[in-house]
Amino acid sequence: MADIADFIAGLPKAELHLHLEGSLEPELMFALAKRNGVAIPFASVEEVRAAYSFSRLQDFLDIYYQGAQVLLHEQDFFDLTWAYLTRVAADGARHVEVFFDPQTHTDRGVPFATVADGMLAALARAEAELGVTSKLIMCFLRHLDEEAAFATLKDAESYLDRIAAVGLDSSELGHPPAKFARVYKAARERGLLLVAHAGEEGPAPYVWEALDVLGVDRIDHGNRALDDDALVARLAAEQMTLTVCPLSNLKLCVVHDMKDHPLKRMLDLGLRATVNSDDPAYFGGYLNANYLAAAQALSLSRADLSTLAKNSFAGSFLDADAKARHMAAVDAYVVAHAA
Ligand code: HPA
Ligand code: ZN
Repeated sequence: MADIADFIAGLPKAELHLHLEGSLEPELMFALAKRNGVAIPFASVEEVRAAYSFSRLQDFLDIYYQGAQVLLHEQDFFDLTWAYLTRVAADGARHVEVFFDPQTHTDRGVPFATVADGMLAALARAEAELGVTSKLIMCFLRHLDEEAAFATLKDAESYLDRIAAVGLDSSELGHPPAKFARVYKAARERGLLLVAHAGEEGPAPYVWEALDVLGVDRIDHGNRALDDDALVARLAAEQMTLTVCPLSNLKLCVVHDMKDHPLKRMLDLGLRATVNSDDPAYFGGYLNANYLAAAQALSLSRADLSTLAKNSFAGSFLDADAKARHMAAVDAYVVAHAA
């Protein structure tokens, strides 16, 4: 298997489903808690890690929102983002499209600008110093109401030239996409692209709603789409990108064994699936760890892995020239590393 790990390590790839707040490692959480004088209910890094045993999405979200409370100043958001970018660059990522949750911070009195300025500065530095390009995606918390999402869109007004898309995350069950129909329409009218988490814990009808009511350009997760043959046919026909997160799915019990993960089935059904890490500090692995866990459990071939890497560029929000350039780089890599 060492050769498949090496093949994955060098494969050019993009990450399309990553929550910056979910890349907060316990070590940085402790350092920021100390720097900012914020109390956290853990005595050590080991205690934090031990608390990361989740059996469903809500268990994770409770601890994830708590961890984010150490983030207060622009420098904190810079440090968080920069740590992720250096880590994912080492995994061979050439492009990333990252989520952030403004409401997690503005609801604590941290200004939108503090959050966005810190993140954007790190993204600009990564492009200059690491050669990693990026897009920023602002998510609405779906457990809050649509009025709060509208307020967030308003907070973002002077940043909309630097924000590529809006997304929808947090507790899925009971908060269907249609709850945000009007704010998604407003975002589209402002020139933003649209994505939404759908079909992680929620059922296939939530994926239909994300497509038909919100008009999304990409589906985040989408696992439960496989319950519905007509939906699979639609997603395949439209070549709708699914941002799949194998280790997240395992940790949150969306799948119970990696051998049961639907990633290979998705590829065989002609779906444009991609591999992503979601919240790597909480789920036990960055981008390449996700590729490797899936490759080992599902016996993915080099052809499957290069399809996943090409899908990550095809499904990105890069322009057509950049997509073609990156996909050609994947092809060249595969030729140069033929088994
Ligand atoms: N699902 C929903 N909300 C989230 C997630 C996720 O995987 N990660 C961070 N917020
Ligand atoms: Zn997610």
